[in-house]
Amino acid sequence: MTDAEALYVHPDRNIAIELVRATEAAAIRAYPWIGRGDKLAADAAAVDAMRAFFGTVDCDGVVVIGEGEKDKAPMLFNGERVGNGRGPACDIAVDPIDGTSLTAAGRQNALSVIAVSDRGAMLDASSVFYMDKIVTDAVGVGVVDIRQPIGENLRALAVAKGKPVAEMRVAVLNRPRHEQLIADIRATGAGTRLISDGDVAGGINAARYESRIDMCVGIGGSPEGITTACAIKALGGFMQGKLAPRDDAERARGEAAGLDCDRVYELNDLVRGDNTFFVATGVTDGELVDGVRRKGPIIRTESIVLRGKSGTIRRIVADHLVEKWLDVTDR
Ligand code: FBP
Repeated sequence: MTDAEALYVHPDRNIAIELVRATEAAAIRAYPWIGRGDKLAADAAAVDAMRAFFGTVDCDGVVVIGEGEKDKAPMLFNGERVGNGRGPACDIAVDPIDGTSLTAAGRQNALSVIAVSDRGAMLDASSVFYMDKIVTDAVGVGVVDIRQPIGENLRALAVAKGKPVAEMRVAVLNRPRHEQLIADIRATGAGTRLISDGDVAGGINAARYESRIDMCVGIGGSPEGITTACAIKALGGFMQGKLAPRDDAERARGEAAGLDCDRVYELNDLVRGDNTFFVATGVTDGELVDGVRRKGPIIRTESIVLRGKSGTIRRIVADHLVEKWLDVTDR
């Protein structure tokens, strides 16, 4: 039986279709906090809502990438069991808001995100805070390599894509640590798309075939790297990551946890297999999805739901009744 026949004869569950309710809930609860200058309150509201919805989902999930350690994070902490325990055993990565500062400032590109894989398939990179990443669409496979200078990668990808380097667009987090990287990108003639936060959206945009971004590079959060990897699997894109410890103590902690800070982690090392799911709902507007918006008696959300096994990309626009969702004080 071919893959196509198997999918048709034995369609299996797409857990992300259920989980989208949790990212929608997180985005809606964060909505009153957009532009209010309080990123902790926005995050707390999103975490709370996401967790409540997890309980309704048929899965036996363990949070591999969550809000941190149990004593610091009251919920969705690393190691927490989520789901109703009745479904498949899986690893879960949550980022109730990727872009808490964006949300607090009312800026673009904040997302609420959940990623899922088979149990044990996600690299637990939580002991090293940062990861150097490179993401492109499928054209980058066998063409781009994080060990090469950025100029070489850009020129090679431009040739493979059949366009001039001057038309290449590269997303990079706008941080002082990327000053040289940004200069090197510009020296090739390519343009940068500096992002103030949110490299999950940046990575996904680099791998989407209809996006204007060709590559996303630079150092961002390790947890965000694993979450992004689940999406890149479904998009059929290219990704590599290299841990970027801030000092010797962090390197030693990483190595004690079984990580190799000198290794280039390929996409399949970041998350193994193709049984991955990724769901994101826009908190604020972005290139990927629109943010939460209020239209009279309804609140509209837009989400993207990706599945590794089938490569399906779904967009879900949902209208929710304001009166069922927001407290009187929030309306
Ligand atoms: P938060 O929403 O948790 O603040 O993360 C936002 C983010 O921009 C990530 O997308 C990115 O991976 C990371 O922070 C970069 O870290 P830093 O702000 O320390 O450079």
